[in-house]
Amino acid sequence: MKKKLLGTLLSAAMVMSLLAGCGSTAQQPAADAAADTAAAVEETADAAADTADAAADTAADVEEAAEKVEEAAADAGAAGGNISIGFAQVGHESDWRTASTKSCQDVFSEANGYDLSFVDCDNDEAAQKEAVRSFIEQGVDYIIIDPIIATGWDTVLTECEDAGIPVIVIDRTIDDSDKYVSWVGSNFLTEGKAAGEWLKAYAEKQGIKEINALVISGSTGASAQIGRSDGFNEIAKREGWTILDEQTGDFTEAGGQEVMESYCKSYEGKFNVVVCQNDNEAFGAMTAMDNAGVAYGPGKDVILISFDACTAGLEDVKAGKISADFECNPLAAPFVEQVIQQLQGGETPDKEVFMEEHWYALPDQIVEFSIDGEPQKMTEVTDEVIAAQY
Ligand code: AHR
Repeated sequence: MKKKLLGTLLSAAMVMSLLAGCGSTAQQPAADAAADTAAAVEETADAAADTADAAADTAADVEEAAEKVEEAAADAGAAGGNISIGFAQVGHESDWRTASTKSCQDVFSEANGYDLSFVDCDNDEAAQKEAVRSFIEQGVDYIIIDPIIATGWDTVLTECEDAGIPVIVIDRTIDDSDKYVSWVGSNFLTEGKAAGEWLKAYAEKQGIKEINALVISGSTGASAQIGRSDGFNEIAKREGWTILDEQTGDFTEAGGQEVMESYCKSYEGKFNVVVCQNDNEAFGAMTAMDNAGVAYGPGKDVILISFDACTAGLEDVKAGKISADFECNPLAAPFVEQVIQQLQGGETPDKEVFMEEHWYALPDQIVEFSIDGEPQKMTEVTDEVIAAQY
């Protein structure tokens, strides 16, 4: 627009100048008048050009400002367009839990298009249900629950359903309600059976005739505890082993140490197997056995079995302290994200998604065994395996 106006005025000025220049002497006054007019037009053109430039500058400023407003609007739109998620996590009791939390925070980041409200429920069932209700009030798009215990969920899940918020359960199961879209986690019963079947095969290989086991269980009522206890007890019963005692260490190192200290006093010289339902309990149990002078590990008085197979747990397998470690995979978040993306796309995700897991030992403790007729493969613990673990 500016260029067009300027061009027109300049052309007019040039034509007038040419007319003035072409005139004869006899026509001098007319030529002078034309020259004056041309000069005036040129002046006007200059002024118009200046005005056009100023207008252009103003327009550019306005355009820039408009762009900024547009960008801000787009940002606001993007923030508003993020998928909001409330995650009611069990707590922070173990290395496993830390890895699980990190997995969720990494996947459900703002950079990935999510707004994550994270609540560490500190192993408090009432606080966990409160957290879920606060997510309903917030009106989040999805709720993720890792249930501290397996029961007592139907009322609050009904509230989620009434609010139209899909619930995804991770890790531990909910056993008294199916009002959730999908569950992503581990088969704890299989983990427990794996530990039992491994012990049977390993004891046979070592010529150990009698099993007197002490179990340090996880948080009572958690599906991870129920499954591991049921699975191991099934094999123990079948094989006629003695379970001397089973007490909870609450999946913590302090709990494992406390229970093992009392076991060392009550069952001194009477046990040859200790089963800890997670690595942190095993760390505490080892401290208690060290203090009580109990020798544990392959070839020693006590076979120590653990679950989770976190980095520090596998280091203890490599160091010849834990005889076998049965993995519980905490990296569920990418699979939960798949579920959410399926829901976003209008698809129906699988009701159950099982995590892949491995059974770890050193070569001398790797034995062949099956679970319900299914042959199992054990993984040797090497430095590379440890470095790649969570
Ligand atoms: O629910 C998974 C269990 O809970 C893990 O074995 C344990 O480490 C965690 O605290």
